Amino acid sequence: MRVLGIETSCDETGVAIYDSEQGLLADALYSQVKLHAEYGGVVPELASRDHVRKLLPMIESVLKQADLTTGHIDGIAYTSGPGLIGALMVGACFGRSLAYAWGKPAIGVHHMEGHLLAPMLEDNPPEFPFVALLVSGGHTQLVQVEAIGQYRLLGESLDDAAGEAFDKAAKMLDLDYPGGPHIARLAESGTSGRFTFPRPMVDRPGLDFSFSGLKTFTLNTVAAHALDDGLPDDQTCADIAHAFQEAVVQTLAIKCRRALSETGYKTLVIAGGVSANIRLRDVLVKELARVGGSVFYARHQFCTDNGAMIAYAGCQRLLAGQQDKLAVNVKPRWPM
Ligand code: KG4
Ligand code: ZN
Repeated sequence: MRVLGIETSCDETGVAIYDSEQGLLADALYSQVKLHAEYGGVVPELASRDHVRKLLPMIESVLKQADLTTGHIDGIAYTSGPGLIGALMVGACFGRSLAYAWGKPAIGVHHMEGHLLAPMLEDNPPEFPFVALLVSGGHTQLVQVEAIGQYRLLGESLDDAAGEAFDKAAKMLDLDYPGGPHIARLAESGTSGRFTFPRPMVDRPGLDFSFSGLKTFTLNTVAAHALDDGLPDDQTCADIAHAFQEAVVQTLAIKCRRALSETGYKTLVIAGGVSANIRLRDVLVKELARVGGSVFYARHQFCTDNGAMIAYAGCQRLLAGQQDKLAVNVKPRWPM
C-alpha cells in the first residue's frame, strides 16, 4: 500500500509518500520559521495561510520525486490533531478531499502517534514492546507501547512540555525560536558545574514531569547576572544554557530509567523534536547500555515535524482496515 502523508499541525508543511513494501519513497518539508520569526512565536492565522499556499505544489513535488502519478496512491493520511485548529483544517481538508476525488481511503492520524512511530522509518527499527519518551514542543509523555494502537500513558508533564521549556529558556537568553537547537549549540561552550539547576520532581514517586519551576529558576539566574543590556555576558549565557540543558536531560533520563524498571522493558524509543538533542541521546544510550538495553530514535529530520511519520502511521492504520468517513474532523486537543 502506497500512502500520501500530510502534516500541517503547526508551522511545518510536511508531505511524504510511504510504501508498505518499499519504504519511504519521497519526502518534502517546508518550515515557516522565517515567517513567524519577527513575532517570537507561531502566529496561527499566518501558519494556516502558508499551508494553503504550499500544500499542492509540495504534493506535486513528492509525486515527481517518486516518479509516480496520482493514480499510484492507494490512500491518504493527514494529521487530524492535536495542533493549531486552522493549520490542522488545511491539511485535513486537502487530504480528505483529494482522497475523495481519487476514490481512495483517507485516515486522520494523531500527531504524537506519528512522532512515536517515526523511528520505524529507520533501517534498524525497534521491536514491540517498548517504552516511548515523547518530547516535543507541546508534549512530554512516557508511554508504554505494546503494539501499534496499544498505548498506555505512564506519565506526562503537569505544566510546560520539555520543548516549550527549551523555547522559553532560549527567549530569556535572547536566542531565536525554536530555541532547542540554539540552547544545545550554546551549551557546548558552557562550563560544566558553574551552575546547578534543579531536577524537578525526581524525588517524588511516579512518572510525571514539571518544567515550570526550572523556567523560573532560569529566569532568576539570568536576572541575577544581567548586565546593562539585560543579558549576562556571553560565557555566563553559555554556562546557563549548559546547566539548563543538563537539568532537562537528567530529569528525563531519571524518569525513563524508572519507566523501564516499572515495565521491565529493555527498549526505549525517544521521539519528537527534543529527541534531536545530542546530549539527551548520549545520556540515554549510555544509561541503556549499562542495563543491556537499547535506545532507538529517528534520523534528525524525522525527530521534528514531518510528513513521513504521518504517511507511515496512516499506512499502518489503513492496512489494519481503518478509515475516516467523508465529514472532516480535526481535534486541536486529543489525548493519544
Ligand atoms: O516535534 P516538534 O517539531 O513539534 C511539536 O510537535 O511540538 O518539536 C519542536 C520542539 C521545539 O520546542 C524545539 O525547541 C525542540 O523541539 N527541539 C529541540 C532540539 N531540536 C528541536 N530541543 C532540544 N534540543 C534540540 N536539538
Ligand atoms: Zn510534533
